[in-house]
Parts: sequence; C-alpha cells; structure tokens
Amino acid sequence: MYVCLCHGITDSAIKKAVVDGGVGNMRQLRETLGVGSQCGKCVKMAQQIIDDTIIDESLFKEVC
Ligand code: FES
Repeated sequence: MYVCLCHGITDSAIKKAVVDGGVGNMRQLRETLGVGSQCGKCVKMAQQIIDDTIIDESLFKEVC
C-alpha cells in the first residue's frame, strides 16, 4: 500500500527502512526515503508504521 504518494513510498519500504536501515523516527525516514518532505499528508501514517514496526521488532526479540 502506498503511504507517500509524492515519493511513491509503500508501507513495506518504510518497514524495511526501520528493520534493515535502523530508521527510528520521522526525521530519519525523511532523510532516508524523502517521506513527508513534500505535502506532508503521509507523516501521520508513516509515523504509525514506524512505531508499529519497532513494537513488532521488540516483541520478536523478546521471543527469540
Ligand atoms: Fe508524502 Fe506528500 S504524500 S510528502
């Protein structure tokens, strides 16, 4: 699903940036993928995806 239409960034690309690229907040995501740097409509959803991915990651680490 596209999250940032201005830059054509999907939710999976954001998740990958968090998991593989170590992105932990919107500023880093903006610097890495450009998300939120144009119209800004995607910021809220992108932030939610970052948070959810970080929570998923920490649960995964606890289990393993
Ligand atoms: Fe992401 Fe416009 S939709 S900056």
